[in-house]
Amino acid sequence: MKTVELLDVEKIRKDFPILKREVNGRPLVYLDNAATSQTPQQVINVIVDYYSNYNANIHRGVHSLSQEATDAYELARQKIQKHFNANKSHEIIFTSGTTHGINLIANGFSNRLKAGDEVIVSALEHHSNIVPWQMLCERSGANLKVIPMTQAGELDMEAYGKLLNTNTKLVFVNHISNALGTINPVAEIINMAHEVGAAVLVDGAQSVPHMNIDVQKLDADFYVCSAHKICGPTGIGMLYAKESWLLELPPYQGGGEMISEVTFEKTTYADLPHKFEAGTPNVCGGIAFGAAIDYMNAIGLEAISSYEQELLDYATQELNSLDGVVIYGPDKNKTSVISFNVENIHPYDVGTLLDKMGIAVRTGHHCAQPIMDFYQIPGTIRASFMFYNTKDEVDTFISGLKKAILMLS
Ligand code: ALA
Repeated sequence: MKTVELLDVEKIRKDFPILKREVNGRPLVYLDNAATSQTPQQVINVIVDYYSNYNANIHRGVHSLSQEATDAYELARQKIQKHFNANKSHEIIFTSGTTHGINLIANGFSNRLKAGDEVIVSALEHHSNIVPWQMLCERSGANLKVIPMTQAGELDMEAYGKLLNTNTKLVFVNHISNALGTINPVAEIINMAHEVGAAVLVDGAQSVPHMNIDVQKLDADFYVCSAHKICGPTGIGMLYAKESWLLELPPYQGGGEMISEVTFEKTTYADLPHKFEAGTPNVCGGIAFGAAIDYMNAIGLEAISSYEQELLDYATQELNSLDGVVIYGPDKNKTSVISFNVENIHPYDVGTLLDKMGIAVRTGHHCAQPIMDFYQIPGTIRASFMFYNTKDEVDTFISGLKKAILMLS
């Protein structure tokens, strides 16, 4: 493996206060980044500054604090627009996270689908990109079809081609599988769907932390993600949707802020983006999301991606050298997630012992039970990396794993 010189990781690690702490008497080795990433001091400072200096409700007050908060919130929207290369800032809708964005669109399509229509999900989805569509199908009478996966943990694109037809109205796919790390060919999936007139929602929860996303280049109809996977806070995310869709779809929730005029006879809705942002939003979260994007961009997504790839390759090579380890998912075309099992040992037992050594991994089905059913396993041990992880941490993880295997064999 070539020496990782792409990032000054030791300097970067100093930005993350949590990385200095100990867990169970050992230095924390945090390898559960696909569940949530850690927060740098620069983003924490923005949160503290907001509540210390200009906490106010937005878009409502004539007073100075409200205007400062409104300006900061709308500036964050513009940062997000620029980062994802959306055409207009009002194509960015603040949500509470990826799940909220998916449900907003699923709800919006309730009255647009009818019996006989078809919607397609992939076998590699998180439950949040399965259940809302099942609920939509129950409401509308549409049929749910599934793009099958292969033993290698990739989508069967030939089968996808066969599923598409003029009844297909919507396709839902994640950009990267949270359970296996597979990078799905979303540009091709979108192209093929558009050829039959279907719209595509891409779940970007796992891609946004690891690569630059250009929603116009992808030609995605909808793209959703969460700030907490990209060094921001929990409880905030974004839905990107093409303006034409946002104009056509009905609002998701009714309430303050999303209206133009209200009488008991009739309500008219506010302009975009407010039509989809009912109630007092997560103002601080939105501003901190913008700060997280600034933080990631200051390091550079390309450097992050190359560094993480080296870390992934190193960890994969070390894991493969252990007897009885089975890694699930593709060898190539994946991001920094390794999902694996150790023969005859339950993943939960390994995860519990690793935690005793200060090493945080996720175990279980990772909210992707159909993938576990496909492999006929109860779950996996998942180690997931970010740019602030190091080769030394991979070594600690591997030696911890060796100890755990010895104790459990
Ligand atoms: N979706 C998150 C994960 O994969 C919670 O762990």
